[in-house]
Amino acid sequence: MIKFLKKIYAKFAPFWIIRLFPNRTAPALKRFNFILMEAKKNNIKTFVETGTYLGNTTDAVSGYFDKIYTFEITKELVEMAQKRFADKKNIEVIHGDSGVELKNILPKIDKSTIFWLDGHYSEGFVHAKKYDLDTPIINEIETIFTSNIKDFNNIILIDDAFEFDGTRGYPTIDELRNIVKKYTDRYDVFVKYDIVYIIPA
Ligand SMILES: C[S@@+](CC[C@H](N)C(=O)[O-])C[C@H]1O[C@@H](n2cnc3c(N)ncnc32)[C@H](O)[C@@H]1O
Repeated sequence: MIKFLKKIYAKFAPFWIIRLFPNRTAPALKRFNFILMEAKKNNIKTFVETGTYLGNTTDAVSGYFDKIYTFEITKELVEMAQKRFADKKNIEVIHGDSGVELKNILPKIDKSTIFWLDGHYSEGFVHAKKYDLDTPIINEIETIFTSNIKDFNNIILIDDAFEFDGTRGYPTIDELRNIVKKYTDRYDVFVKYDIVYIIPA
């Protein structure tokens, strides 16, 4: 119940709450601004999202990016998103576990990419089901840092930093930093507005 209330708070808190508690949350309506801000600052035109859900973030950023890949594990949600984006030729909705499927898509990418890693179990979300892993985050990070695009200047943003408590497949932020360090010293890992940033130092 507390986790559910935290989710509601994280998704819908008004902006004045963010000002009071800047490290706790960024509401859903504002999150796409963090993505666009980083994309514009770094001139990145390729976007990879894990966890499409209803496609609201995908939709909000779709006008900016040349190419978007969005992954969703739940079939009904994939079908809804494929219908929603049928007319948007720059969006590809991919069905499957992003911890597994990401490695099949990255070879198609030859530019720096912004990642929005948001594919995880969300209690109380319509249609979202519980799968074996609450979060594929470790597989996703290891896939990115061993892939063909590992030497590009990618920006990795992970939603819901509060989940990173060392349980249910979530590393702590320090553990996450050590995972990244295994592959590269080029990136900083820090939390801002309840988003984990993994960005070139
Ligand atoms: C918090 S919602 C995503 C919200 C969406 N990114 C947005 O900004 O509106 C999490 C979604 O991740 C999906 N999901 C859970 N585990 C996944 C996995 N291993 N691979 C891909 N998607 C997953 C869930 O079905 C759910 O739709």
